[in-house]
Amino acid sequence: MYPKVRMRRMRRNESLRSLVRETRLHTEDLIYPLFVVAGEGIREEISSLPGVFRYSVDCLKPELDELHELGIRAVLLFGIPAEKDDTGQCSLETDGPVQRAIREIKAQCPGMIVMTDVCLCEYTTHGHCGILTKTGEVDNDRTLPVLVAQALSHAECGADLVAPSDMMDGRVGAIREALDEKGFSHVGVMAYAAKFASAFYGPFREAADCAPQFGDRKGYQMDPANRMEAMREVALDVKEGADIVMVKPALAYLDIVHEVKERFQMPTAAYHVSGEYAMVKAAAQKGWLDEERVMMESLLSIRRGGADLIITYYAKEAACILKEGGA
Ligand code: PBG
Repeated sequence: MYPKVRMRRMRRNESLRSLVRETRLHTEDLIYPLFVVAGEGIREEISSLPGVFRYSVDCLKPELDELHELGIRAVLLFGIPAEKDDTGQCSLETDGPVQRAIREIKAQCPGMIVMTDVCLCEYTTHGHCGILTKTGEVDNDRTLPVLVAQALSHAECGADLVAPSDMMDGRVGAIREALDEKGFSHVGVMAYAAKFASAFYGPFREAADCAPQFGDRKGYQMDPANRMEAMREVALDVKEGADIVMVKPALAYLDIVHEVKERFQMPTAAYHVSGEYAMVKAAAQKGWLDEERVMMESLLSIRRGGADLIITYYAKEAACILKEGGA
């Protein structure tokens, strides 16, 4: 004799469901991407990312206040320079949009964790994430010094963590070494460790004006088919000194997120990317699904899959719901 199994007993009402809930979202786990553009007086909505704006540094204040008010404690900065060049040198200017934004955020909102995307694609005329050879291939080892210099320039302005997203081999180690040498051993590295060559980045490329002018990124970003290779990528970044490892995109890659968390036991971030956000926004605008519920279910599932941190354009909307005691 044994009791009849009644799985439904604990699902009878919200209090019981909440009592046995295994995964929860916290506002502290959310990281909000911020696009900063050169110039002044700019606050423009990104058409492919409704509700997300590009700001010039002088217009950041209300956004920072809102983030602070909502309890969001971390931002990831992307810069759009006034003028691009062939080799991304413009990313090193002390008064570039990211450099100015870091100083501004630290002055206005000292408690805010400032992370910065380190890459060349926003800064190069050709839109690739590295320096090109004569034949148009991305030159790994010639790119490293520029990435290192960019990371150092962000650290000098007060960034808490730099986040290389270029997928060049050896960049985490090179950046870590340089930071340590130059007195920035306290600055962390959040490595885009397993970053896949994904079509889900489409809307971002408009936001950051960084679509490759020829070819694609498959020569450096990962093949979506590869799980074991993702583990090797993460292992390398951990060995080279990453403090946080990231999987990107999130929802279509939750198997990778899960395995990375299980295997490496590192602080693990998942990037809920532009296309993932835009799909939900578009369907919601058509009245085809309940945006709030789909958003919260997506973010919760990314947590359940193993992510400690989620970078998402939905951070503010999710924080709003969490603040009201929802989800
Ligand atoms: C490259 C970078 C990209 C994203 C973050 N960093 C674009 C790319 O690799 O093409 C995508 C983020 C998103 O889609 O939300 N610096």
